Amino acid sequence: MGSSDSHQTWGGRFSEGPDARVAAFTESVSFDARLAAHDIRGSIAHARMLARVGVLTDAEFDATAAGLEAIGERIRAGDFVWDPALEDVHMNIEARLTEDIGALGKKLHTGRSRNDQIATDIRLWLRDRLDALSAEVARLRAALVDLAEREADTIMPGFTHMQVAQPVTFGHHMLAWQAMLARDSERLAEVRARVNRLPLGAAALAGTTFPIDREMVAAELGFDSVIDNSLDAVSDRDFAIEFVSAAALVMTHLSRFSEELVLWMSPAFGFVDLPDRYCTGSSIMPQKKNPDVAELVRGKTARVNGHLVSLLTLMKGQPLAYNRDNQEDKEPIFDVADTVMASVALYADMMPHVTVYADTCREAARQGFATATDLADYLVRRGVAFRDAHEIVGQSVQHAIRVGCDLAELDLATLQGFSEHISADVYEVLTLEGSVAARDHIGGTAPAQVRAAAARARHTL
Ligand code: ARG
Repeated sequence: MGSSDSHQTWGGRFSEGPDARVAAFTESVSFDARLAAHDIRGSIAHARMLARVGVLTDAEFDATAAGLEAIGERIRAGDFVWDPALEDVHMNIEARLTEDIGALGKKLHTGRSRNDQIATDIRLWLRDRLDALSAEVARLRAALVDLAEREADTIMPGFTHMQVAQPVTFGHHMLAWQAMLARDSERLAEVRARVNRLPLGAAALAGTTFPIDREMVAAELGFDSVIDNSLDAVSDRDFAIEFVSAAALVMTHLSRFSEELVLWMSPAFGFVDLPDRYCTGSSIMPQKKNPDVAELVRGKTARVNGHLVSLLTLMKGQPLAYNRDNQEDKEPIFDVADTVMASVALYADMMPHVTVYADTCREAARQGFATATDLADYLVRRGVAFRDAHEIVGQSVQHAIRVGCDLAELDLATLQGFSEHISADVYEVLTLEGSVAARDHIGGTAPAQVRAAAARARHTL
């Protein structure tokens, strides 16, 4: 019965419909409509299982599945009117199904609750987004490996404290970013494994009185397993928190990388350039070409980190089992997926088009006494204790600063004034090429090692 304006989904218990502000406050279809395709997939699997266990007839399943598929078509075509009065994606689709196929549509929700339904939808949706994101991360990693091979011999300064430290190769530097993203790939795969478990069958919280076959639904939806405990299945969003956490690390890596690109594109560095199509200009300064993609990736990392804190906070006070609080998980999850996907995809597009100015990079490495450690190591090989060698080289650097030249430009007599252990072959270790080539072990910056590391990385892609 219920009055004509009571909510049609739960009208039986209610004598009036929701207050307009309550309706606007509680609706979720304005954002969860995005889950429609996955909601329909889950519903068809549920209905097929209901038919298998005899709750629906085969003819009822056929009509239900055909009705759901037709609704899916209409949604894809943009030909579906979402009604906020029906609250969420689930009720919109179910109401439409009942309009389309008649009273049979009302049987679909047998043995199911929106609580296990939404948990299933998010997991199905997230699994697709994880697969798409993993593919983009792999594309970016491949681009970095290509760039590393291309620039395996290009010498640039390696920095600590943003001060020139030791020469490295540009390729080595690119492979450092690749290595971080390779761990991101691992993390995304691990997150996927825990996302890919079936909550459906938990119903509202305690399970259902119908003889459901959850294994069948899991197999049909491609889930690896069934979530064991019904209370857990409908209530926890740890899988989403893990996703956002993994995404925050991807963004953190890209953000650091962005910081370097921004610096390197500055004329003060001049190490690299990007094609105009990946940059933007200034409305006032005609000469400007700004690395806005990199800056925005750095900036968007903030919102992803924010969403991570949102979801952790959303969860921390919730008693078992389902609480409506969980509706607040959707927008952060969607925004994180969109943001990280767009950022990774743009980086994957951009990387093959980075121009590296090898001469400028080399010159920057030459300026900062980057081979000072090589000179200290040379003295150690001639029997000087490292701490003494450090002191000797420090004095040589101080002298070079005073006379305004590089260590390699000091003549032999001058160098020998600092240590009798120095002979003419010292110039081999003072060159940038000698310095990088000498770091010839796994993980070192020698061009040969960079090529080997690039080959290993390519093998993992
Ligand atoms: N919109 C809800 C959510 O996102 C769906 C589940 C609602 N369940 C309920 N009993 N109100 O979590």
